[in-house]
Amino acid sequence: MKPRSIPSQPSRAPSTPSPAGDPSTFSLNRRAVLAAGIAACSLIADRSSAIQPFHPNLLQDASASMNITKAPFGTLPDGTAVSLWTLSNSRGDLLKMTDYGALIVSIEVPDRQGNRTNVTLGFPKLDGYLERHPYFGATVGRFCNRIAKGKFSLDGTTYSLAQNNGPNHLHGGEVGFDKLVWKTEELRGDNYVGLRFSLLSPDGQEGYPGNLSVQAEYLWDNEAKLTIRFTATTDKATPINLTNHAYFNLGGWQGGVIHNHQLQLQCAKYLAIDETMIPTGALADVAGTPLDFRTATPIGQRIAQLTATNGYDHCFVVDGQPGTLRACGMVVDPKSGRGMEIQTTQPGVQLYTGNFLNGSDSNGGFKLHEAFCLETQNFPDAPNQPTFPNSILKPGEKFEQTTSYRFLVVADK
Ligand code: BGC
Repeated sequence: MKPRSIPSQPSRAPSTPSPAGDPSTFSLNRRAVLAAGIAACSLIADRSSAIQPFHPNLLQDASASMNITKAPFGTLPDGTAVSLWTLSNSRGDLLKMTDYGALIVSIEVPDRQGNRTNVTLGFPKLDGYLERHPYFGATVGRFCNRIAKGKFSLDGTTYSLAQNNGPNHLHGGEVGFDKLVWKTEELRGDNYVGLRFSLLSPDGQEGYPGNLSVQAEYLWDNEAKLTIRFTATTDKATPINLTNHAYFNLGGWQGGVIHNHQLQLQCAKYLAIDETMIPTGALADVAGTPLDFRTATPIGQRIAQLTATNGYDHCFVVDGQPGTLRACGMVVDPKSGRGMEIQTTQPGVQLYTGNFLNGSDSNGGFKLHEAFCLETQNFPDAPNQPTFPNSILKPGEKFEQTTSYRFLVVADK
């Protein structure tokens, strides 16, 4: 069937012509700051790739202004009302989110010609999200990705979690944070509009210890940067690992396979995994493997070599110091000109290329490799791996992680 998703926004002509980009290209990892008229910004690009420097993006909808609107999105079987928020920045770029799963329903940003389209996969109505779906756009917790055999030990007690992915626990269990209705507040700042989602996950929910208070802030600013900030506190030690599971296709939600998207990751190492996708504990070099994206490379160029996983489904170690906001990577769709730059404080990033998308209704009709996810996170199975970054939150501590996805336009070749 045809993909069912949020229809794209009607095209809007840019009211301000985009000035020409700097004609030079940049070498790997070199950050260039260009005065863009509206703001200075940075780009990580590579001389050997087709990626051209950032094209100052002044694609302004003259009628747009920063705004938040709320509309009904549907009701749960128990009658709970679910809402859809539409956040507009001053350029008319849109972020749509629902309180069900604190999930991103669409992100509408311009291509090189100024045409705004939704660049995420999802469903047009709440119903699609109520069935078992591939975590489209969801805020995932209490522990995203896998915990081996659904077991971990803390302070002498062994905890058992749902084994909902072969022998392992995945994405918080049967009823993870993606299936809960979050309390929502609207946020407004000088340069952004946003939403703060919060929930209290009670002691024992899905087998996890401790009453966990979680906040997920999604801020949408006037440079089309989506900043996601997670915070949490607990009254008992508990594992925690939060991510957003947006599926991106920068060519638009109907853009087809993402093999031509160019990806560059600031990641020299990845986590070796066993046949059930649990890390072995080894941090392996990407050099000489199909996981080497230190130079911008089309996602599809070596994807066929990943036969065991049918594509990319690997956690990369983000270079630099976890806990500091640093470059994670960049993706560009050369055809539409849309790009996305990622920064994060998280230790890792899971590159997942929709290897289980099979065109079914519960997958929104989307097929194999029609999107990519870059889920910033702590390392999978961290509660069982003493050498991995700490994933245990204790009473009196504050969990805090920030990730940003900045949408931009690159110059034509
Ligand atoms: C995991 C995949 C999984 C997908 C959808 C990703 O985060 O790494 O293995 O299939 O989520 O659940």
